[in-house]
Amino acid sequence: MIYCDNLTRAFGTATALDRVTLKVAEGEFVALVGSSGAGKSTLLRSLNGFVSPTAGLVVVAGRDVGALRGRDLQRHRSEVGMIYQQFHLVERASAFRNALSGAASRISAWRTWLAAAPVAERAAALDALTRVGLADRWAQRVDTLSGGQRQRVAVARTLVQNPRVVLADEPVASLDPASAERVLTLLASLAHDDGRTVVASLHQVEFASRFCDRIVALDHGHVVIDAPTAQVTTDQWETLYHGEQHDLAVEAV
Ligand SMILES: Nc1ncnc2c1ncn2[C@@H]1O[C@H](COP(=O)(O)OP(=O)(O)OP(=O)(O)O)[C@@H](O)[C@H]1O
Ligand SMILES: [Mg+2]
Repeated sequence: MIYCDNLTRAFGTATALDRVTLKVAEGEFVALVGSSGAGKSTLLRSLNGFVSPTAGLVVVAGRDVGALRGRDLQRHRSEVGMIYQQFHLVERASAFRNALSGAASRISAWRTWLAAAPVAERAAALDALTRVGLADRWAQRVDTLSGGQRQRVAVARTLVQNPRVVLADEPVASLDPASAERVLTLLASLAHDDGRTVVASLHQVEFASRFCDRIVALDHGHVVIDAPTAQVTTDQWETLYHGEQHDLAVEAV
């Protein structure tokens, strides 16, 4: 479902992604890990076509994303699910309207907002809110929901969108542990129950280990770990996350 071959992206002299080669299958839930600036967001943005490769290939759902232009690129973006740390919801609209907006590429904008959307789309929005445990909150304005509830509305919107590939950039970084677990359980269900391909950047090792099938670690734009979760050793985690701190400690001495 996802194939990167020597994907490279430079910003001026800085190389955010350096010859990244990666394959992700249908139904897989992959954790993208690595310290700040490692290239996680750039990789996710390359997959949905917001960042174009400087070199190499990125193929998602059979499309050569780097070669897409205009309408085709727009279509690709609308067909890939995106979940963000800061939710990116319409704060003043209800949970229902936000969930329904996942259907925006299928129905014209005014119909989404005037609640004149086809019955099937409205039913899909309610089903999605039910699945994320927010059926009773459908009419509530999103700016009155908690962070965890907002992120679940974002998952509901993605369900209505119905993409084969879901990308999540630090989806639980702003959430308390219980809300984070709930959101990660939903993302795992999108992969394991629905067969979607889910790639999420995560900072917490514990969450990545518990919920994801596979770990892909980036360091300065390089893939340094690509393995089933159970095969990633404590040493590898330590090196990945404490390498920098260790260097700093040594310098301080
Ligand atoms: N639009 C841009 N212009 C210039 N440099 C950029 C741009 N986007 C990313 N970079 C650089 O590319 C590198 C990788 O950034 P990226 O945002 O992908 O890291 P990240 O792993 O998502 O980090 P974090 O965990 O802090 O979100 C960084 O050095 C960053 O400064
Ligand atoms: Mg990032």
